[in-house]
Amino acid sequence: MNILGIETSCDETSAAVLLDGRIGSNVISSQRCHTSFGGVVPELASREHERTIVSIVNSAVTEANITKNELDCIAATAGPGLIGAVMVGLCFAEGMAFALGIPFVPVNHIEAHMFSAFIPESPEHRSPEGPFISLTVSGGHTLLSLVREDLSYDVIGKTLDDAAGEAFDKTGKMLGLAYPAGPVIDRLAASGNPHFHAFPKALTSSSQTSRSYRGNFDFSFSGLKTSVLTWLQKHPAEFIQTHLHDIAASIQYAIVSVLTEKAVAAARYFHTDAISVAGGVSANSALRTAMQEACRHHGIRLYIPGTVYSTDNAAMIASLAGLMLSKGAVRKNNYDVAPFASFAAGAIKASLK
Ligand code: KG4
Ligand code: ZN
Repeated sequence: MNILGIETSCDETSAAVLLDGRIGSNVISSQRCHTSFGGVVPELASREHERTIVSIVNSAVTEANITKNELDCIAATAGPGLIGAVMVGLCFAEGMAFALGIPFVPVNHIEAHMFSAFIPESPEHRSPEGPFISLTVSGGHTLLSLVREDLSYDVIGKTLDDAAGEAFDKTGKMLGLAYPAGPVIDRLAASGNPHFHAFPKALTSSSQTSRSYRGNFDFSFSGLKTSVLTWLQKHPAEFIQTHLHDIAASIQYAIVSVLTEKAVAAARYFHTDAISVAGGVSANSALRTAMQEACRHHGIRLYIPGTVYSTDNAAMIASLAGLMLSKGAVRKNNYDVAPFASFAAGAIKASLK
């Protein structure tokens, strides 16, 4: 079965083809039009998706060495995301599927991230096997979930305010870094001292030991943002410039250690021996190293996608559609297109027969 996946939920226009269960192409175009605004401008994003989607889809099909008539199914992100941006990819995908007379599968963007460590890109790829803890960290979401054997899942923790990627982007903006600041902080931090200043690590108290896990696996990053702002205001610009690498490393350390501690604590609490980390922030080199070390220490298997599959891409959309179809998912005609898609327990399972 050949599945075309389309992703347009934010500022990446992407199309990928899953050829008989293996990724045949994954074309990604990152929008540059937002740089001077310090964040993504929704209307500009929608227009840019509209301008590029035809050529991106054509490239994905051509690179996969097939023709459109050899496609069996088309999948697209149906949310969460910038609603105008989502609609461009979704309407295009539905229209194309209708014209070709093949089924259309709506895919939840965050669920696609959750399973992106299992994208079948090579013969050695691993299939997802629950139970495992999924840490999904992107620009808009920070979620800890318990994924079961049947791949249904429960969200066990989430951010109460900013997402981890947002914490990188907003503190980076305070340092005068370009959007998205996450990768820039990552680069600067490589030669900085993570213990230069101890920025707060919120919600990491000993409450982990309380009998109910509710609330223990939630995150909060808005305090870090305020702390960075007040710290920067107290120091002269020249001092900040001299220590930019150290400040970046200290901010990164605060974010990464909270994510690592909570993911490992969740694995131990639920007696699972595997963790998957996904979403744009999973491209962060310090997070990858910290998770590898912590998992090795606790005898936990770590699943983490290649960096190209960490940030937004259509391969994860086509792959999750393939996984859902292989498990007997039926086409849903009454799906919601939602900027804030819900994470009801077992959302994936709910779409299965
Ligand atoms: O998953 P993603 O591409 O889009 C969303 O679904 O939001 O994630 C984008 C986020 C941005 O906040 C970006 O700064 C962050 O991922 N990011 C990183 C790195 N690469 C991307 N954060 C830290 N270090 C990185 N290397
Ligand atoms: Zn994403």
